[in-house]
Amino acid sequence: MEFPLPTPDEKQIAFMEKTWARHHLEGYMKRWENAFVAEVPEAFWEYSWRACDLGCGFGKYLLRESEQHPEKGWLGIDKGNLRGGGMTQRFNTTGRSNLFGVHGNAIPIMARFPDASLDQITIFYPNPWWPPKHRKKRWSYHPLLPKLTRLLKPGGTLLLASNEAFYLGEWQYALQHHPEMVGMKKIYTGPIRDPEGRSHFETKFIEQNVPCGEVIFQKETDQTP
Ligand SMILES: C[S@@+](CC[C@H](N)C(=O)[O-])C[C@H]1O[C@@H](n2cnc3c(N)ncnc32)[C@H](O)[C@@H]1O
Repeated sequence: MEFPLPTPDEKQIAFMEKTWARHHLEGYMKRWENAFVAEVPEAFWEYSWRACDLGCGFGKYLLRESEQHPEKGWLGIDKGNLRGGGMTQRFNTTGRSNLFGVHGNAIPIMARFPDASLDQITIFYPNPWWPPKHRKKRWSYHPLLPKLTRLLKPGGTLLLASNEAFYLGEWQYALQHHPEMVGMKKIYTGPIRDPEGRSHFETKFIEQNVPCGEVIFQKETDQTP
């Protein structure tokens, strides 16, 4: 099975490039200056290998991975009342010390993480924000995007999975053309390869025979220009 990704058209590219040039994380973060921003438990940083699942929903992927890899630290962040709340409750009942859940908005939380602090970032089935007036909310346009690259350690990976080919096409374009996305190389684009369904949405799409794809980029280990 294939999962071809469309290249965004000229108008979409022009809008994306204009948005990247105008909206920077520093300015965007001003809105969070006086707001409550949830903290990540200190114990997460004690793991030498760390992964963060952005918008982790009920946390299915992290529940599986944290059990299979107890030596690694697994963090999920979700802002939804239903999913984020359910996720933290589920994580607490496991009693697993390498599994961390934060119910809150990942943007200000991740913006405060130190650079080169994560080995893996995953984004499973983000909201596509279809109406053009909302497209700036897609991760490809978002001021958090270049920070995601900076958060990765050399060799770290960034995975995004979606059932929306257009979303993955835009994402791939952004990772290859955003002026601040330096030192990222593509290691996979195509259909998802995990038959089990890693997340709640992925499992639902597999059951409904909805094709899904994923794009994986890796931060190059040699950072010299
Ligand atoms: C379509 S659901 C996918 C959930 C899960 N990743 C899955 O595949 O089952 C998108 C999730 O992203 C979360 N989300 C969107 N923007 C977020 C943000 N800025 N911070 C934290 N969570 C976010 C939503 O609350 C929602 O649970």
